[in-house]
Amino acid sequence: MEDAAQSQSTPNAAFTPRVFSGIQPSGGLTLGNYLGAIRRFVDMQESGVQTIYCVVDMHAITVWQEPQALLRQTRELTAGYIAAGLDPEKSILFNQSQVAEHAQLAWIFNCVVRMGWMKRMTQFKDKAGKNAEEASLGLFGYPALMAADILAYHATHVPVGEDQKQHLELTRNTAAKFNHDYGVDFFPMTEPVIEGTATRVMSLRDGSKKMSKSDPSDASRINMTDDADTIARKIRKARTDPDPLPSEDKGLEDRAEARNLVNIYAALSDATVEDVLRDVGGKQFSEFKPMLADLAVAKLAPISKEMARLMEQPDEIDRVLGRGANRAREIAAPILHRTYDIVGMLRST
Ligand code: AMP
Ligand code: TRP
Repeated sequence: MEDAAQSQSTPNAAFTPRVFSGIQPSGGLTLGNYLGAIRRFVDMQESGVQTIYCVVDMHAITVWQEPQALLRQTRELTAGYIAAGLDPEKSILFNQSQVAEHAQLAWIFNCVVRMGWMKRMTQFKDKAGKNAEEASLGLFGYPALMAADILAYHATHVPVGEDQKQHLELTRNTAAKFNHDYGVDFFPMTEPVIEGTATRVMSLRDGSKKMSKSDPSDASRINMTDDADTIARKIRKARTDPDPLPSEDKGLEDRAEARNLVNIYAALSDATVEDVLRDVGGKQFSEFKPMLADLAVAKLAPISKEMARLMEQPDEIDRVLGRGANRAREIAAPILHRTYDIVGMLRST
């Protein structure tokens, strides 16, 4: 949020700072989600601005989800939010489908955004693959729903990983086109917040691919629910090169796998890459990997333990989400009403 002051001079000065972000309950949480997103969510919660964090179940079903798995993953992601430090008293935590305003505003935005914008989205191309004709219409329109998630709250800042940059750009374009077409200054120009050394955690098996919950290889990722032995084994087996670690950042050029492990180490220890390399430069991976495994276990084990504890009380999780949804609706409903008025939709009062 360093740029909060700077945005005072932009049209956003009229908007109270408000943070929104979301994660899909389409699988277990990964170390990438934790370092790239959830840790930032917690920082922002502690910074004192209003924070709203969503479990985006409507986005998850843009690709097939088994109903029972979706339910469990929705609760598990919520448990992960709380175990990692999000406090349902301080932040609004809820699942997207309980607040109908998201879908309602998404429809308006479906009529604002252009086909051409959607066709340029790299996440659609990656997820649809060669078989785009068979992809759901929801997967294609996904970014319009994401714009609605954010703009239904007039959110000014959105913490995300690097891969969401293009979607945030589309959100700004959607707000700008709506404002322009209807001659209003209604939606803010939301700023992405992509910060830290772990905005793009890579696969442990292939340094050119993002670590992802949907990768078919479980060895490619660290799941937040992995036990200590599994974490240690995955790190030991992580792909690397035969050279020792360099003592300076530029020695990591063209060494994607080595860079990834150093970045993870830096992020987990709240240090810079330079600091880490000062300590470990010259070491072989056979020595560095156990250090990284110990650090990862020390940071992640308490979170996964707490997640397991929370998952034993699903009713409590559901209650948190229900209460969060009510609070979210209180903010989104008046914004949707004003949107309908701007568009010219009749509303009997
Ligand atoms: P998703 O799991 O696709 O719903 O992503 C949820 C959040 O985690 C988004 O802010 C992503 O940018 C972030 N994220 C997902 N994977 C990674 C990764 N490998 N590295 C950093 N951030 C990530
Ligand atoms: N598209 C995001 C992802 O895959 C998830 C998401 C949905 C989101 N709506 C959002 C993130 C709104 C931030 C704000 O990671």
